[in-house]
Amino acid sequence: MPLSFQPSPNIARLKESATLAVAAKARALKGQGIPVIDLGAGEPDFDTPAFIRQAAAQAIEAGATRYTNTEGILPLREAIAADANRIQVQGTPVTAAEVVVSNGSKQSLYNACVCCFGPGDDVLIPTPSWTSYFEMVELARANCVAVPGDPANALKVTAAMLEAAATPRTKGLMLNSPSNPTGAVYSREELASILALASERGWWVIADEIYLRIAYETGAQSALEIASSRDNLIVINGVAKAYAMTGWRIGWSIAPVALSKAMTAFQGHTTSNPAAVSQYAALAAMSEVAQADAAVSEMVAAFRTRRDAVVTALKAFPSVRYVHPEGAFYIYVNVEGFRGAADPGAAFAAAVLEEYQVAVVPGSAFGTPGWIRASYATKQELAVEGLTRIARCLTA
Ligand SMILES: Cc1ncc(COP(=O)(O)O)c(C=O)c1O
Repeated sequence: MPLSFQPSPNIARLKESATLAVAAKARALKGQGIPVIDLGAGEPDFDTPAFIRQAAAQAIEAGATRYTNTEGILPLREAIAADANRIQVQGTPVTAAEVVVSNGSKQSLYNACVCCFGPGDDVLIPTPSWTSYFEMVELARANCVAVPGDPANALKVTAAMLEAAATPRTKGLMLNSPSNPTGAVYSREELASILALASERGWWVIADEIYLRIAYETGAQSALEIASSRDNLIVINGVAKAYAMTGWRIGWSIAPVALSKAMTAFQGHTTSNPAAVSQYAALAAMSEVAQADAAVSEMVAAFRTRRDAVVTALKAFPSVRYVHPEGAFYIYVNVEGFRGAADPGAAFAAAVLEEYQVAVVPGSAFGTPGWIRASYATKQELAVEGLTRIARCLTA
């Protein structure tokens, strides 16, 4: 008898990634010869720095073609621990035993969700939030509790807002600073009060710091610098964004040793080690500190110049509201009330693509349908032209 596919209960609520869906639509239009300005992408437009590519090429020739330990090669885990200790870590220094290397910070986030949360658990998700947190928590069969951020404070949440949303079943929360999609950065004080609350309540904190190094005015603080104890803290990072290494697929977690062992076991039965050659590329990024810092600074300076340029472009339209981006490479624009649509973000994204040839991501992907996300990780003139068209579409 032919078998027709019926999704298992595990994936019954799984949705296609909205960012990838927008990218596919923009590609289709480009394929028809329509010059779309693509502000949907979530990746740097720079090449991976040459010294990293060269280290990878050498590693292949030297035989980095076989399985490694599931949790990653020791020199890389040591370099990640050393990198973490370059900032003022509270308590004892981070050790390699706390580091598990994975196929991207996305995998580390998923490892953490599966290992810490399960049926009956509530997980607080400050919203807007990166699109995959909801799906990951649900795949872990836990319950997502969206905590809407304050529009008067860059759509960030406070400890009091998290406390008000908590239940006796609350098991943890997701934190993301600098934020995708808003570019907002939590201050040291904001992070300190959230971390203190979580510690008092015995909640896991999964701190996604993938954009930590891409921050402008004041820089962004790591939870490692602030949390008085690491007992309930999982810090997630990776090379994708800061080092322009999205395709290499290397991320990691820094977590208590017992949890790190559990995540290694889970990863060992699902994907095993991340690609050996990519680990050696990441090793160059994390251990050739002077070269890496120079490359990262250059890219962050370029993002900052573009950020300034797109903000200046939007200021020409005083009625357009947006979150002032202090980090990452996104700008979150308010489209509430757009053409009276029930989902204004989706209606706006469709209209601006069809009528103005600009691809953006609807805010419903991040739990806030009244907004859209535009990425300025593209040539400055394209980013400025794209944001200008967005503002024209909004104010027409
Ligand atoms: C907030 C956030 N976390 C995690 C990721 C995943 O990054 P990686 O390429 O390291 O898996 C992304 C990528 O878009 C992101 O924006």
